[in-house]
Amino acid sequence: MAEDLQIAQGSKEDQYQTLLPQIKGLLEGEPDLIANLANICGALKEQFGWLWVGFYLVKKDELVLGPFQGPVACTRIKKGRGVCGTSWAGAKTLIVPDVEKFPGHIACSSLSRSEIVIPLIENNTVWGVLDVDSSELDEFDLTDQKYLEEIVKLLQYAQ
Ligand code: SME
Repeated sequence: MAEDLQIAQGSKEDQYQTLLPQIKGLLEGEPDLIANLANICGALKEQFGWLWVGFYLVKKDELVLGPFQGPVACTRIKKGRGVCGTSWAGAKTLIVPDVEKFPGHIACSSLSRSEIVIPLIENNTVWGVLDVDSSELDEFDLTDQKYLEEIVKLLQYAQ
């Protein structure tokens, strides 16, 4: 596919509808996990302009920072810690409308106000998370959850 992303205007739903096939195109035929994680971050950041979009990958008993777009971030998160570690422990997507109200939230950037974390699951095992931070309160909803979960399903852990 062309290297340029076609940026959509309109509702969030419209934006995801335009973005999803482009992300599929970017991943098609590319087996390298890091390349695919990196392009997903780039595509989401370019379309939505969020503060931070990135992946943490499970390595032994921690999440370790992977490809991302945005300000520098903390590199290691323990299971059950912060939003990412809680999503990992529960194998569930978490939407946090106000990060200051989430007990144990790990503030990588003082600009972050709301957050969504989607676990990457294969064979009932979480192997990483997609973390998205916004500088706006209450940025993420069920539309984000639906499409971001669909996007991470395109990834395959086995390399
Ligand atoms: N806020 C996250 C930590 C990662 S940064 O936001 C990039 C958390 O509480 O797990």
